[in-house]
Amino acid sequence: MNINDVKKIAVLGSGAMGHGITQVCIQAGYNVVMRDIKQEFLDSGVAKIRESLEFLAGKGKISAEDKDMALSLIKTTLDTKEAVSNAQVIIEAVPEIMDLKKTVFKEVSESCPADAILATNTSTMSISEIGSVVKNPERFVGLHFFNPVNRMKLVEVIYGNKTSDATVDLMCEIAKKINKIPVKVMKDRPGFIVNRINAPNQALLSAILDEGKVLPQELDAVMKKIGAKMAPFETADFVGLDVFCHTLDYYAKTLSPQYKPGKFLTSKIAKKELGMKSGKGIYEWKDGKAVIDTSKASEDLTPVHLLAVQVNEAVKVWKEGLAKSIQDIDDAVKFGMNAFAGPFALAAGMQPQQLTDALNSLTKRFGLDFLKPEPEIIDGSFKTIGR
Ligand SMILES: NC(=O)c1ccc[n+]([C@@H]2O[C@H](COP(=O)([O-])OP(=O)(O)OC[C@H]3O[C@@H](n4cnc5c(N)ncnc54)[C@H](O)[C@@H]3O)[C@@H](O)[C@H]2O)c1
Repeated sequence: MNINDVKKIAVLGSGAMGHGITQVCIQAGYNVVMRDIKQEFLDSGVAKIRESLEFLAGKGKISAEDKDMALSLIKTTLDTKEAVSNAQVIIEAVPEIMDLKKTVFKEVSESCPADAILATNTSTMSISEIGSVVKNPERFVGLHFFNPVNRMKLVEVIYGNKTSDATVDLMCEIAKKINKIPVKVMKDRPGFIVNRINAPNQALLSAILDEGKVLPQELDAVMKKIGAKMAPFETADFVGLDVFCHTLDYYAKTLSPQYKPGKFLTSKIAKKELGMKSGKGIYEWKDGKAVIDTSKASEDLTPVHLLAVQVNEAVKVWKEGLAKSIQDIDDAVKFGMNAFAGPFALAAGMQPQQLTDALNSLTKRFGLDFLKPEPEIIDGSFKTIGR
């Protein structure tokens, strides 16, 4: 199959991700059938797409005709078979439950055209395991969009253990057609590229909260001073502390037990103080914004510490063969985290000793062995590896 053969896409799930994926596909001219388990979920997904397109039309970013044309390309159904028959590409965005995803793909695999490409938008789970239930695992791939789909540019296109190059290449072409920037993830490893590079800093934030010496607002103040649109603890609250801890638990199982969420976060979850969605988390939230006193900035922990952790993990990601190039790693972080630049670009002008010292002091202070500097950080070769 080549890109011109793709006319109809099925999107399974119409929640936060499913409706966003549907929107970007119809805006690129694809016919999309969106499937969910209740008509009210589908109606709500379509209403959000309409609202977003009306907003864009109101701002003059798309024409009223484009908006109407895009909306005319959506169909909805409660029946998987109906959704996937005649679809060349099927993108799954149902809840993050392994058994559910396997059940869905078993049914899809039995009902879809033999040459269809099947993609999962899982944010954490093994592509190979989900794909183990389908008839043609060489045409099964990870397609990891970022939230909100209509604004975030990155799509990670992830190989499972049997995915063919042709499948990944075609999905990259489709990602470009729907106005995204694809980055190939060459191995099916926890966190893929972006979330993996972010993982040790997530664990560090949990350890900082438990230590209690640097207050969340003091670290967030430092990051806001250097231009961060959303600072790290604010982001944790925004994402939801339950989701944040769920991810740490997953890394504790798959990367190192030291990733386990600490006492501070665990007690927040127990008190149902989950962040923005519950009105209180690390911060109080009013009118959709965190109330943060940024008058005092930390002098102890600085952006260099967070960058050192990021580039150290990026070196590991490179050595494990997850990315084809250093540029791909930088692009993934830049476009997946809305960052100013990727870790290698940001660290290019830094002294190896400064990064090494930062990592050694964090490892010792918080007892997190995965923060130990990689040899390429110590000898400065992180500036040239892969180039
Ligand atoms: N929300 C994020 O920030 C984010 C980012 C990247 C990836 N993801 C991943 O995307 C997937 C979906 O996440 P979400 O945030 O959109 O979840 P969500 O809960 O907002 O939406 C999931 C939708 O799937 C529907 N559904 C349940 N069973 C179904 C079935 N058998 N067939 C069709 N639809 C079914 C639900 O009714 C719901 O509407 C998950 O795997 C998640 O890990 C989420």
